[in-house]
Amino acid sequence: MAFTLTLTEDERRTLSDRLEQGTVTDSLRWAWENFGQRAAIGTSFQGAGLVMLHHAREAGIPLPVFTLDTGLLFPETLDLKRRLEDFFGITIEAVTPEKTVEEQSAEESPELWNTRPDLFCYLRKVAPLQNRLSTLDVWITGVRRQQAETRENVSVLELYQFDPLRDEYIYKLNPMAAWSRDKVQEFLKRHDIPQNALLSQGYRSIGCWPCTRPVAEGENERAGRWTGFDKKECGIHTFLPMAVTR
Ligand code: ADX
Repeated sequence: MAFTLTLTEDERRTLSDRLEQGTVTDSLRWAWENFGQRAAIGTSFQGAGLVMLHHAREAGIPLPVFTLDTGLLFPETLDLKRRLEDFFGITIEAVTPEKTVEEQSAEESPELWNTRPDLFCYLRKVAPLQNRLSTLDVWITGVRRQQAETRENVSVLELYQFDPLRDEYIYKLNPMAAWSRDKVQEFLKRHDIPQNALLSQGYRSIGCWPCTRPVAEGENERAGRWTGFDKKECGIHTFLPMAVTR
């Protein structure tokens, strides 16, 4: 069950600004010290998530880490998960949908990602995430403002309504909001952090294999996601209503 509200809107904004002025470690420490295991880092092993894992390890902050495993991740991504577990000495929880891809194909329709990509992302990413978030008060993400127009106004500490019927809320903490792609890449190189082997083949933003393609120089980093569909987001960053509070 997510928490009932304690901070007013003004207090949340002030705290968000304070965390934005601080370091990534300050944000992670705030989450850990106030919420412990009820805060967790969600990562798809792209740059920003890895920067957070580095800071957590350096500061000895044992926040849980999870990834949404849709069953259609690239073998390179699954390999990276194992390499990161060794490198950081952590276990990364795989959050999975109720049904396997095969079961879903038999019951719904084969290749649902082609016929109904929104439903596919909902069943294999959003619903399992919602389930995991029901055990959390703070969802920590690697969302960056520079990633997309839809992310330009992201705050470091946001408040969402988790269950409006029960007046329950959840914090979304985005410690990487202000980081540029270049800054992330430079950081990963400097600290020799393992990365997805697909990056050397022109991939930039990497999701499920049927819906990810390499991008050309100069294209937006998310241009390689859901090519051919009028779709920019899988839904995990858009399904929660932002809280309107005092
Ligand atoms: S996307 O799903 O909307 O494409 P993107 O790849 O830009 O997300 O990543 C932004 C942030 O969303 C990540 O830093 C991570 O916090 C969260 N996220 C995206 N995909 C996953 C995933 N498969 N598992 C866990 N968190 C994820």
